[in-house]
Amino acid sequence: MSRPIILGIVGDSAAGKTTLTRGIAQVLGPENVTIICTDDYHKYDRKQRAEIGITALHPDCNYLDIMQQHLSLLRTGQPILKPVYSHKTGTFEAPVYIKPNKFVIIEGLLGYSTRTARDCYDVKVYLAPPESLRASWKVKRDTQKRGYTEEQVLAELEKREPDSEQFIRPQRQWSDIVVSFYPPSDDINNTNGHLNVRLVLRPTIPHPDFTKILDFCDNTVSAIRLGLDRDMGKPVDVLEVDGHATLEQVNKLEHLICSDMPYLKNVCNREVNPELGKVAGTTGETIQSYPLAITQLLTTYHILKATQIYQ
Ligand code: G6P
Repeated sequence: MSRPIILGIVGDSAAGKTTLTRGIAQVLGPENVTIICTDDYHKYDRKQRAEIGITALHPDCNYLDIMQQHLSLLRTGQPILKPVYSHKTGTFEAPVYIKPNKFVIIEGLLGYSTRTARDCYDVKVYLAPPESLRASWKVKRDTQKRGYTEEQVLAELEKREPDSEQFIRPQRQWSDIVVSFYPPSDDINNTNGHLNVRLVLRPTIPHPDFTKILDFCDNTVSAIRLGLDRDMGKPVDVLEVDGHATLEQVNKLEHLICSDMPYLKNVCNREVNPELGKVAGTTGETIQSYPLAITQLLTTYHILKATQIYQ
């Protein structure tokens, strides 16, 4: 039976969820993708939250029960009447009728916080940039797009930290892939804009055979590296791609990911799709990088694998 394939993108505020979601939708074809942001399931508007003294990150501040009901419905291909939270006004708008496309991307703060919700995803991604980078992204976005001052954003980050620690970051343990974009050590302020990516590959889903990287990379010094580590106490493979990797190295890695997936070969071929790794950021700038391209490609690989299995 055919049903939508569900991808989760979870992470703290301004961790890059919307940007990555857009990038993946672009690869899959936006017409094939339904994007749901779980901020729409906030229980209180901005004013009420301030009065009660609760942050949007707290489970009690969200209708997680309705969110998980909707996830279950989408998973079986059924429509939902989704609430709408406006980041612009901080209030709720009229709900919208949504019928799922072939692929559904659920992005938000608390997507993996309940067992029932977690069971709905085919692939679970968690975004974990270093906190200093996330803070700079949040300041940039919230001052440019949401009408806050820098001081307000920094104060808000501090206020939310206990909830981030208690409710957001633990969700990392439920993910299949942890994505961390990070500045290179010789440019920690990220002045040249070239971020590296660290991809933690949990054995919860079968990943492409990355050991072949060792055939074309000197693993310790190359811009593309494969390693073993522990993440939340569990052994994991770690793939790292530096922002200054060469096109030749990236092409080899892309071929490796695409090798057992003919559809990917067409969609993610650079000649066919020059947009790979190029995404419009939340503040209007265009972001293009090889680490982003590899992240888009790997996530798409898993979505298509799930499609082969379940459809
Ligand atoms: C953060 C999160 C949003 C959430 C918002 C609520 O910024 O990234 O996803 O909806 O907090 O706060 P607001 O600024 O809208 O009052």
